[in-house]
Amino acid sequence: MKDNIILIGFMGSGKTSVGIRLSYQLKRTMIDTDKWIEQKQKKTVSEIFAQSGEETFRRMETDCLRELIRTADQQIISVGGGLPMREENHALLKALGTVIYLQATPEAVYERLKTDTTRPLLQVENPKERIRTLLEQRAPVYKACADVVLDVSDLSFDEILGQIEEELIKHEIISDQRTKS
Ligand code: S3P
Repeated sequence: MKDNIILIGFMGSGKTSVGIRLSYQLKRTMIDTDKWIEQKQKKTVSEIFAQSGEETFRRMETDCLRELIRTADQQIISVGGGLPMREENHALLKALGTVIYLQATPEAVYERLKTDTTRPLLQVENPKERIRTLLEQRAPVYKACADVVLDVSDLSFDEILGQIEEELIKHEIISDQRTKS
């Protein structure tokens, strides 16, 4: 197993912003699978969904993980919310390192994403209902993939960071001293 820290969770659970801060604090580079795909395809996620369909995007996510297995170590990796749903991705996620699930309630997700237009799956008439349904299907899978589950809905950004650091110390991924430097 490699020594990456992987952040999984629903859209709007804070994977990218938490990942960026962790990357800064732990002096590890950060990779976001959505950004990786967008750069490679020279298209936004929304464009890929609209032009090629969701299944094509899901294949790109698996390709991205395979590439990361070859190339990434000691990094922070934030993955798209739907990526853990593909079964073949589970072993790839596990092999990449320690998987942290940022668990958020449907209400918290809705509040964060209600004006967002960049998530094609939520551009529907009733996004609240869509979030609830998707989250119901996905939560058990996120939990099954995760080494650490953090309930982030009622936590401030700094509290989330603090709890992740505690978990990383507990799992001996980082040492206490290193986080305080
Ligand atoms: C998706 C989540 C998005 C992006 C795409 C599909 C999903 O990533 O990969 O819009 O299926 O949950 P974020 O979780 O980073 O928003």
